[in-house]
Amino acid sequence: MSEESKVSNGNVVTNASFILPAGNGTKVCIGGGAGFIGSHIAKRLKENGYHVTVVDWKKNQFMAVDEFCDVFVHDDLRKLEVAVESCLGCKHVYNLAAEMGGMGFICSNESVLSWSNTAISMNLLEAARRCGASQFFYASSACAYNEAKQEDTNNPGLKESDAWPARPQDMYGLEKLYSEEMALTYGRDFNMEIRIARFHNVYGPRGTWKGGREKAPAAFCRKVITSTSEVEIWGDGKQTRSFTYIDDCVEGVLRLMNSDCKDVINLGTTEMVDMISFVKCAMSFENKNMPLKYIEGPVGVRGRNSNNDLIREKLGWEPSISIVDGLRKTYFWIKEEVEKERREGKITNNYNKSEVVEQVDDSLMKLGNPVKRSKLN
Ligand code: NAD
Ligand code: GDD
Repeated sequence: MSEESKVSNGNVVTNASFILPAGNGTKVCIGGGAGFIGSHIAKRLKENGYHVTVVDWKKNQFMAVDEFCDVFVHDDLRKLEVAVESCLGCKHVYNLAAEMGGMGFICSNESVLSWSNTAISMNLLEAARRCGASQFFYASSACAYNEAKQEDTNNPGLKESDAWPARPQDMYGLEKLYSEEMALTYGRDFNMEIRIARFHNVYGPRGTWKGGREKAPAAFCRKVITSTSEVEIWGDGKQTRSFTYIDDCVEGVLRLMNSDCKDVINLGTTEMVDMISFVKCAMSFENKNMPLKYIEGPVGVRGRNSNNDLIREKLGWEPSISIVDGLRKTYFWIKEEVEKERREGKITNNYNKSEVVEQVDDSLMKLGNPVKRSKLN
């Protein structure tokens, strides 16, 4: 096996090389494929000769449809018939669809996201089975881990087994854990290989960067770009996380799908930082040096990091793109987006603050309208 080495966090990571097998027209379906991670995966697969169907209820803001897929089903995956129609003839099905966001979204939208995400997960899995897909990928999250293992800023790295016994901090994490188990059960009962990765805070260009759903990397870049006197941070800034640059995430998902790894694995780096250092990293790209203002906000767990023993053992690979490299690309991409909005005359003077998204039930109310039956007799 040939190898490539990269430097991450001061350590040399030796990764086995990998070439994505040519698609030769193999049909794949990507639920949530117009979203951040889904669209990057879809694009890579399409470029490699796969016939890609994307199903998503939103359009991609940054790419034309034919850049990342062959067929775009613009519909709601909480309807089983939409999932089944989209999976017809597909050999591989990827579930990257979810009501998703950073701390400003997942804490304040628990009911609606648990209903919707469970429905999506059930439907795509059942659709993949019915349509005879041989492989199914599920995008899980580090949020699935037991909160008791994340109370210290010096998190030693969450091992996959730390998810059980279960006590995720919120419903988003619990729904992820339930969907993992449902997929694993389908894999045991039916003729379908299941692959599951727990993503650790994925960021990069074309990710959500405003509106309240954005995660810390994009929020910090946007705030540094648009602040003039100080930069706001939710909490005391000592909370820790590890982050994953989008290219590593895509690479990890495709390596996993092309492996025989049946275990649920972490997909994240082991480069853990506190939020103070992280925002200072964002400030360094343009030599800014503003004081930080600590304010109340949804803070999530105290400390989170990935343990990569299992992914190294199973895939001979782990994410290795450093925070400074990944965040720099993200920062200048967001800067360009802000400047574009300014040129278009849009209001950007509230971008130095982050919002918390209020829960609304409008998407739920679109489903389940009373059935009109013709009278019998
Ligand atoms: P994203 O919000 O950019 O993409 C999710 C996509 O799902 C969106 O395009 C959205 O429109 C679509 N979607 C939501 N509800 C739908 C419905 N009812 N019908 C059809 N489409 C629907 O988020 P992302 O960052 O690309 O995340 C992809 C997956 O990875 C999600 O399952 C998410 O929970 C998981 N994940 C992401 C991260 C991260 O840091 N980005 C971390 C852990 C897990
Ligand atoms: N989003 C955001 N915006 N977070 C901020 C901000 C801000 O302006 N200021 C400080 N933070 C802090 C949060 O309070 C939290 O303590 C930390 O930065 C990281 O926040 P997020 O990036 O929003 O979320 P997370 O790491 O707690 O969880 C995310 O990653 C999971 C996977 O690792 C979420 O996106 C989850 O949905 C995801 O599953």
